[in-house]
Amino acid sequence: MLTAVAWPYANGPRHIGHVSGFGVPSDVFSRYQRMAGNRVLMVSGTDEHGTPITVQADKEGLTAQQTADKYARQIGEDLRGLGLSYDLFTRTTTGNHAHVVQEIFLALYRNGYVVPRTTTGAISPSTGRTLPDRYIEGTCPICGYDGARGDQCDNCGNQLDAADLINPRSRINGETPKFVETEHLFLDLPAFTKTLGDWLSTRTDWRPNVLKFTKNLVDDMRPRPITRDLDWGVKIPLDGWRDQPLKRFYVWFDAVIGYFSASVEWARRSGEPDAWRQWWTNPDARTYYFMGKDNITFHAQIWPALLLGHNGAGDHGGEVGPYGRLNLPDEIVSSEFLTMSGSKFSTSRGTVIYVHDFLREFGPDSLRYFISVAGPETQDTDFTWDEFVRRTNFELANEWGNLVNRSISMAYKNNGAIPAPSRPQPADEELKALARKAFETAGAHLQRSRFKLAANEAMRVVTAANRYLSDQEPWKLKGDDEATARRDSVLHTALQVVSDANTLLTPFLPHSAQKVYEALGGTGVWAAQPELQEVEDLDIAGQINPILTGDYAAERARWESTPIEVGHPLTKPTPLFTKLDPKLGETGPEWAPIEAS
Ligand code: MF3
Ligand code: ZN
Repeated sequence: MLTAVAWPYANGPRHIGHVSGFGVPSDVFSRYQRMAGNRVLMVSGTDEHGTPITVQADKEGLTAQQTADKYARQIGEDLRGLGLSYDLFTRTTTGNHAHVVQEIFLALYRNGYVVPRTTTGAISPSTGRTLPDRYIEGTCPICGYDGARGDQCDNCGNQLDAADLINPRSRINGETPKFVETEHLFLDLPAFTKTLGDWLSTRTDWRPNVLKFTKNLVDDMRPRPITRDLDWGVKIPLDGWRDQPLKRFYVWFDAVIGYFSASVEWARRSGEPDAWRQWWTNPDARTYYFMGKDNITFHAQIWPALLLGHNGAGDHGGEVGPYGRLNLPDEIVSSEFLTMSGSKFSTSRGTVIYVHDFLREFGPDSLRYFISVAGPETQDTDFTWDEFVRRTNFELANEWGNLVNRSISMAYKNNGAIPAPSRPQPADEELKALARKAFETAGAHLQRSRFKLAANEAMRVVTAANRYLSDQEPWKLKGDDEATARRDSVLHTALQVVSDANTLLTPFLPHSAQKVYEALGGTGVWAAQPELQEVEDLDIAGQINPILTGDYAAERARWESTPIEVGHPLTKPTPLFTKLDPKLGETGPEWAPIEAS
């Protein structure tokens, strides 16, 4: 299994909207797959080229490189804190990435899928720098709306060309842009209409939101520029282009290739430089891509087209490129948007909750849980503090935390170890059977990235176990041997089901799962966590890159009911989740207060 996770732009710290799209879902999926015994390669990195970075750099008075360095580290720390178990989280400014991007490009070029064209581009008269379309604003030539952007009109929704705007002006300083002729390389998308269309028509099991989006994708494909007039990006390896100071690949062209280049880098770092082939040229490998919905076109259309072109599989035919026949995506798992009171999470509108603030105050698992059970899995979803408080207090603290705490504490106090089930009754077996069954049902949901259903299935076991304890009232079972023997059986059953529920919840709550595992007397790593490391670039002498990686093969968690061992010593549990003050639901925290409307 390849888990390919969308690459966050290195232009700011991550907010909870970002990580609800690409982050938590991809990690829950990967953790489940590893537990189920599949070999997982989970890769991504920071997306560090193009105008998203240069614009932020200008704002902060930094160079593009400084900006990328700064945010690559902050984002690495955000994702590490959340426990996202990347095999490699790298960056697009590595020597390896530039090389792989150029190789893929050359394969496309040789096969005839790249064509030069002259177009009009805008430059800023005062700085001489190119002005990207979205930084130009003016009157929409179609509907007359005055705030249209050069790439798109938010009023009528049409895609625009900046040169067609009436009264165009720079959104940066208001000046009138100058339009000049410029040459660019275009990807011949129409040459993939047939192969891409055929491939898409076989994708029947994707999430409905993704299918809906891809339905008309190939109806009107036009050539797309894959270069930009910019000094920050991967260089174009062709004579006449290579040395031009202002020609670079378009950021999306290099970024999507990152899935592949990061797999190659991971293999090179592992000491087996060809190990990436197990996921990319092995036809039995399955590849899953995780992202927010604004990324769908790039993953369902552009990236498959690049792979087809490299494989020599468009209308122009061609040869299989230097990496061999590369696998196309099996699944595109896209989330919708997490909003806050109706607006898409965005720094520009000021409604933003940063991951690092969240982690500092509430820790990773309550956010992971919230995103999994109440996140934007199939529709835009509003984040509210009220809902967060309710989920944390009622589901994590009252239901799950209490079950763990009262069952382990009681057994610890009475037995100090896991008691023997010497007086079984049918109710015990019923509860244990329910828990065992959940591995199948929740597993099937996780396999299809139905996270809400899977988490609910795990929580059903928790609820049933709480009900069982209230029915059996083990705290009343004392005095004679008969009663204590029955109490031992009840506690044994409860602990077995706590262990099972903990396993079922591990993909969602890996940090607390480790604690529950230890409270039940387990030793070693149950759920492994990623590490942030500073490593030398493999190709560029002197460059240091922050990366995330981890040793996940060592973890003990398996997707099955593990029988607990009678006599195994228990440790006194510490509370798993602290209850939040309900007032938080009305006010929000100090660092993201709820604005009175
Ligand atoms: N940086 C893009 C975004 O944040 C996502 C890039 S995904 C990739 O929307 F695959 F292209 F890298
Ligand atoms: Zn318009």
